[in-house]
Amino acid sequence: MRRRVTKMIMGVDVCMTSEKYFYFNHPEVQKALHANRTNLPYEWSMCSDVLNYSQSDGDIDMLPSLKNIINMMYLFGYSGMSQGQLRVGFYGNTCPNVETIVSSVVRQVAASDQNIAPVLLRLHFHDCFVQGCDGSILIENGDNAERHAFGHQGVGDLKDAVVLANGPSYEVETGRRDGVISNSSLADIMPEVTDSIQILKAKFSQKGLSEKDLVVLSAAHTIGTTACFFMTQRLYNFFPGGGSDPSINPSFLPELMATCPENGNVNVRLPIDRGSSGTFDNSILQNIRSGFAVLQSDASLYEDLDTRSIVDSYFGIFSPFMGISFEADFANAMVKMGRIDVLTGFHGTIRRVCSRF
Ligand code: HEM
Repeated sequence: MRRRVTKMIMGVDVCMTSEKYFYFNHPEVQKALHANRTNLPYEWSMCSDVLNYSQSDGDIDMLPSLKNIINMMYLFGYSGMSQGQLRVGFYGNTCPNVETIVSSVVRQVAASDQNIAPVLLRLHFHDCFVQGCDGSILIENGDNAERHAFGHQGVGDLKDAVVLANGPSYEVETGRRDGVISNSSLADIMPEVTDSIQILKAKFSQKGLSEKDLVVLSAAHTIGTTACFFMTQRLYNFFPGGGSDPSINPSFLPELMATCPENGNVNVRLPIDRGSSGTFDNSILQNIRSGFAVLQSDASLYEDLDTRSIVDSYFGIFSPFMGISFEADFANAMVKMGRIDVLTGFHGTIRRVCSRF
């Protein structure tokens, strides 16, 4: 024993067969290797009656197996952990004032321009649908940047945009990391104003959003404006031979045509929620019901039986007593949308300059 301990101190060659038994059974070695944590009543030895292996197995390269194990750990452990990291109060310890700071900046900017709130809200939607909510819409990396995709403009904090428009306040989950991809071609999957209700449903479903989310989130159009550009087809070329969308209320059609004349300036803007575009409320849904939807995609929500009944559900006489609340549903859907393909934990990056990778 003394001879062996002396060898240990002098630096023993553990590959020598006779030394292995001493070495791997030594309590300190076992402790260092995190082995025999359960204090097995027998010693370590080269042979086992339980495991079926041979002496030559000792020559097998363990690296590929270790690599597999690490990959599996990443898949099951880290990705699960990273999902779990998106939560309310993520910066509670590291930057407790972050929400107050962001909120006050958004409020300041919005006070100087009433269009900011709707623009921010729309951009959150676009950011989330293209490659997840990762701020990639902010990247300025040339002509192919995501921000140059049709209709994109710039992004910011969203809850405040909704609150500023008198919308519902809700708790925002934080902990998203920044994406490392920004390409306008990826925005091809965005829902379009001329998409059929089936396509709109499918595009939302691909992002894990339900028909109810489609209805409630489309009601974000309760604030903001659209360019006449998006109205031309609906007003003048709805059918191959011309004509307007028959779902437009006949008393509303002349009004729309006067604001957006055929061959007129497509950049002229009009409120999407007629009569109430400055306030966040469910009047957009009422407008959709009565043929006063401005955007074709909004009107199509009333074509389909399922989405129609969701729209109607907010106007039933018993709805308030049944706890049906547009504001609460909108807040829930926003939280859900804010979770689309988020990068957390070890994924993505943290940009020092928002517009650069
Ligand atoms: C269902 C699919 C949707 C389609 C096809 C659609 C389409 C459009 C279009 C064409 C405009 C006018 C853009 C412009 O002229 O600048 C617009 C504006 C807007 N959209 Fe949507 N949208 C959809 C869903 C959403 C969602 C889910 C949100 C947010 C949760 C949203 C928020 C907004 C806002 C706030 C505006 C007004 C922007 C402004 O005033 O500058 N939209 N949308």
